Amino acid sequence: MNENELLSVLQEHGQAHIYEAYKKLDEAGKEKLAAQIARIDWSIVEKACPAGASCPSRGQDAPAQERGKLKPLSALEVSEIEKNKEKYEETGLAAIRAGKVGAVLLAGGQGTRLGSDGPKGKYNIGLTKEMFIFERLIRNLQDVTDKAGCFVPLYVMTSDKNNDETIAFFEEKDYFGYPKEFVRFFRQEMAPSVDYSGKLYMEAPDSLSLSPNGNGGWFYSMAVTGILEDVKARGVEWLNCFAVDNVLQRIADPVFVGATIDSGCVSGAKVVRKADPEEKIGVLCLEDGKPSIVEYYEMTEEIINSRNADGELSYNFGVILNYLFRVDQLEEISDQKMTVHVVEKKIPYIGEDGALIKPEAPNGYKFELLILDMVHMFENCLSYEVVRDYEFAPIKNKTGVDSVESARALLQKNGVEL
Ligand code: UTP
Repeated sequence: MNENELLSVLQEHGQAHIYEAYKKLDEAGKEKLAAQIARIDWSIVEKACPAGASCPSRGQDAPAQERGKLKPLSALEVSEIEKNKEKYEETGLAAIRAGKVGAVLLAGGQGTRLGSDGPKGKYNIGLTKEMFIFERLIRNLQDVTDKAGCFVPLYVMTSDKNNDETIAFFEEKDYFGYPKEFVRFFRQEMAPSVDYSGKLYMEAPDSLSLSPNGNGGWFYSMAVTGILEDVKARGVEWLNCFAVDNVLQRIADPVFVGATIDSGCVSGAKVVRKADPEEKIGVLCLEDGKPSIVEYYEMTEEIINSRNADGELSYNFGVILNYLFRVDQLEEISDQKMTVHVVEKKIPYIGEDGALIKPEAPNGYKFELLILDMVHMFENCLSYEVVRDYEFAPIKNKTGVDSVESARALLQKNGVEL
């Protein structure tokens, strides 16, 4: 894009202030900024603030999106899984041994709540020895690979913010004993941030404020980075996607894989029974006949509290960000547009004097795609119940709910030495 084109694009989208910053840069800086601008998807930016509209703060509880007709989706419950465990495990292990199962670690997030700069997986949760989150996840995967007697390809999604540090950490720790040739890294896309009037923020004189575009773009990023070629070359037919922060989760769990394959479903989601009707967890149900994850604030009180004849909540199973997707189906839905979530956040930016300001309160919007929206793109999904205390110890905060403290306690409860 030449200088005139750049100016006209910026003017067209009400972003002339970026041109003012651009003019002050040397050639290398100009090139960098112009390249970032050329990659902007303006249709996304406009979602924060449609051209010409006044665009006040949306507040933390943005108005719920219109939902279709919701119906409960029954889960394959723990009691039923226990009865068929051997059969499922056999099917799952056969798929793993045939090289049909890969794992995708979503580690592109910024872990702002944990408040540690750098990749969340580098966080040391050990007490008497070092135990890094990445290490714990690899140990969990090794439980399966030891049993299967073969390795599972692990694809690690990073972002521009943490890619180099993540790779360097795996190198330094010798991949925690996992074979390096079974680990591939790929970067997710970045998205711009805007203030409440839709103006792009800058985080350096030669850079827009860019942040990872959410965990929902992972398959697109696999395709554009060429990693999907590796998936295909290895003959992987199922991908198990999981979050970096649940240190207790089973990865490439053969029982889950087997149950999903045996069910004939094209996707599966691990779910936990809700602790109470109001728990803030996305519930897996049916929306207009297709699987869907609906947040608690998108449901009416009546739906939240509705119960089956046996007294159980009708919408009783929440997702824990551990999904299984069939690769051929992922390819089929890959050209469908995903919902862009406009999220109010604290966005560091440079002020008039060029110094970086880190705001104490939200000051604008970021744009994110969410993996939970993918589930609705599939024809069906096996809702697969796991026991919370055995498989769900997310680390979002330092203390309190879903924290380093609570995860440590759960790991110890499960016999993990820390
Ligand atoms: P969270 O929603 O918990 O976000 O991500 P986060 O960035 O880790 O933490 P906060 O909200 O800033 O405190 C759930 C999972 O999705 C991944 C995260 O790394 C985590 O595994 N993720 C999130 C990405 O891979 N990319 C993103 O852009 C966002």
